[in-house]
Amino acid sequence: MYDVYKIRKDFPVFHNSKTIYLDNAATTYKPQSVIDSVTKYLSKETANSGRGDYHDAYVVDKRVDDTRLLVQKFLNAKEEDEIIFTHGTTMSLNLVAQSYGKKVLKPGDEILLSIAEHASNTLPWFDVAKVTGAKVVFMPLDDKGLITPEIVKKYLTPRTKIVAVTHISNVLGYINDIKSIAKVVHENGSIIVVDGAQSAPHLKIDVQDLDIDFFAFSGHKMLAPTGIGVLYGKKELLAVMDPFFSGGGMNASYTTDGKVDIFKAPRKFEAGTLNIEAIYGLHSAIIYLQKIGLENIAAHELTLKKYALNELRKLDHIIIYNEDAPTGIITFNVRGVHSQDAATYFSSKNIALRSGQHCAKLLKNHLHEMATVRASIYLYTTKEDIDAFINAAKTAEDFLDAYF
Ligand SMILES: Cc1ncc(COP(=O)(O)O)c(C=O)c1O
Repeated sequence: MYDVYKIRKDFPVFHNSKTIYLDNAATTYKPQSVIDSVTKYLSKETANSGRGDYHDAYVVDKRVDDTRLLVQKFLNAKEEDEIIFTHGTTMSLNLVAQSYGKKVLKPGDEILLSIAEHASNTLPWFDVAKVTGAKVVFMPLDDKGLITPEIVKKYLTPRTKIVAVTHISNVLGYINDIKSIAKVVHENGSIIVVDGAQSAPHLKIDVQDLDIDFFAFSGHKMLAPTGIGVLYGKKELLAVMDPFFSGGGMNASYTTDGKVDIFKAPRKFEAGTLNIEAIYGLHSAIIYLQKIGLENIAAHELTLKKYALNELRKLDHIIIYNEDAPTGIITFNVRGVHSQDAATYFSSKNIALRSGQHCAKLLKNHLHEMATVRASIYLYTTKEDIDAFINAAKTAEDFLDAYF
C-alpha cells in the first residue's frame, strides 16, 4: 500500500483548490512530474517529431519512441508497432470503425455491442453500419450489469464480424470478463474491440493474455494531459486496414495520379503532427502509475468504496445501483431528487460529482432510471473526501437548502 497523503503532495491542484474531486471517471488530476514533462517539451525540447534531421528533433523522436515502447510494455503488446497514438478513446474507436469496419463489413453483417457502451463505442459503429449495410445489434446485461460470455454467445451469429464492448462500464463499474468473452468471440470467427477508457487507469492490462484484437484508452483519465490516447491493434489486423485520414508523416511518396506509397502501422494511422507535449505527459503518467502500482491503486479505491457504501447504505434516501462493483465507481440517486439537482447540491458543499446519463444513453433501459449521480474514486482520494461526501449525502434530501 502507499501513503495517499504523501502522494497528494505530488498534485499541485490540491494546493490550489478546495474541491473534493470525485469525478475521476471523467478526467483526472495531474502530478507535477506530468506537468514538468509537458513544460520540458514546451520550454526546452521543442521540435516536430518524425521529420527533423537535427539534434533537438532526435531528442523529441526518442521521447516519442520511448513512449510507444512504454505503452507497449504497459499493455504487454507483442510489438511496439501495434501502438498507435490518437487523441483519445473516441478517436481510437472511430479509427477501428472506419479503417477496419469499412474494410471487412458487408451488407447484412452484424456488429455486436452492449447497451452499456459509451456513445464513443456506439455512434462510430452506427456510422460504419450506414455506409456498409451492416447491422448494429445490442445485447442486454445480466441482472447485475455485466456483459457475460454466455450473453455474448447467445447473440453471436455467423454474420457477427465485430464485437465491441467496454472493459469497465463508466456508469456501473463492473469489470467484464474480457478473456472469456474474447474466447467465445474468436470461436465464432469474429474479432473483439475493447473500450479500455475506464480500465487502463486502474487495472493491469495484458492484451496478449486477454487475446484482445483492438484496445482503446485515453491519457487524461490516467494522469496524462488531454488530447492523447492509444489504439492497440494486432499487427495482422492493422496490416489490412487503410488509413482513417491522410497527410504528412504517413506516406513515403505520391504521384500526380494519386498513387500514394503509405507507411506501415503505426505511422500510416498517424497523419499530421502528433500531440507531442501530451505524449511527453503520457510517458510520465505511466511511470507514475507504475511506481505506485496499479494493483495498489485498485485496492485503495476498493477500500474507500466499501467504506463509502457501508455509510451510504444507512441512508434510506440514497439508492445505489452498483453495490458490489469491484471498482471505485458509486452510482446512485437521492430519492425524489433529479440527478442534476443532486449534483448541484453536492457542488454547494464543494463536492464534484457527475450527473445525467454519463454518455451511456441506452443504459437507462437496464437501470430503469433516466439519470443517475456518479462518484468516482482515484489513487489520491482520501477517507476525508469520502467523509465529506457521506456527510453531504446525509442531508441531500433537503437539496433545496443549497439555494437559500
Ligand atoms: C467507457 C468510456 N468510453 C469512452 C470514453 C470517451 O473517452 P474520451 O472522451 O477521452 O475520448 C469515456 C469517457 O468518459 C468512457 O468512460
